[in-house]
Amino acid sequence: MEPRYLRLGVNIDHVATIRNARGGVHPDPVRAALAAAAAGADGITAHLREDRRHMTDNDIVRLTEEIELPLNLEMAATDEMLQIALRHVPHAACIVPEKRQEQTTEGGLAVAGAQEFLAPFVRELSGAGIRVSLFIEPDIRQVEAAHSLGASVVELHTGAYCEADKDDRSRQFTQIETAAARAEELGLECHAGHGLTFDTVASIAGIPTIVELNIGHFLIGESIFGGLESSIKRMRSLMDKSRASAAGQNSS
Ligand code: PXP
Repeated sequence: MEPRYLRLGVNIDHVATIRNARGGVHPDPVRAALAAAAAGADGITAHLREDRRHMTDNDIVRLTEEIELPLNLEMAATDEMLQIALRHVPHAACIVPEKRQEQTTEGGLAVAGAQEFLAPFVRELSGAGIRVSLFIEPDIRQVEAAHSLGASVVELHTGAYCEADKDDRSRQFTQIETAAARAEELGLECHAGHGLTFDTVASIAGIPTIVELNIGHFLIGESIFGGLESSIKRMRSLMDKSRASAAGQNSS
């Protein structure tokens, strides 16, 4: 059987981080989104944080108007972000936990136990035709809670796997594999991301039920050395090779 296609969503937040360091207009995240599309990205991901430390409201307006690839808007579960998402109707909204002091999204959303709070967000976004994804730890309880809420997608946080030392790596990997399998059983589309690099992407790409990876910081950082298109093409190729070889192993 042909392996399922693995989409690459390129997160362009850190193009805006560099732009904002000088407060001007360069480098332009929309230009980066267009370059990502030309290099083979399947989608663009942008996180409008409450403190607007990278993406701005105007970036989101421009991304919805100027790019053709599907936009995945990462957002905290707040009324302000809900209104913004409902105004722009991106292809997908990924609900993430957000803390002011963190440098990045440090963990997954605690969906289990917060269903009552999250339900109106899932309902309203889905009602507007936006695919709702919940960014969770690779934990079966969280997958099941996301399913009970009626989300269409779960995105598994790969940060702990990417940062694990070699003794802990296989345990972290098994958790992702198990959570992805449970998502599949429940009919949830499964994505993954956070902290992925050229070294860590292959194993995650080899999990056949994961259909999208969202990758940002490493690609933008690597583009300093070889250009954005080249870093995306290399990532794409590593993903494709790993998926094809995992499918070959499963069928033999
Ligand atoms: N997926 C989600 C939900 C995220 O919040 C982030 C980081 O913004 C990523 C993927 C990408 O992580 P990284 O920038 O480490 O590749």
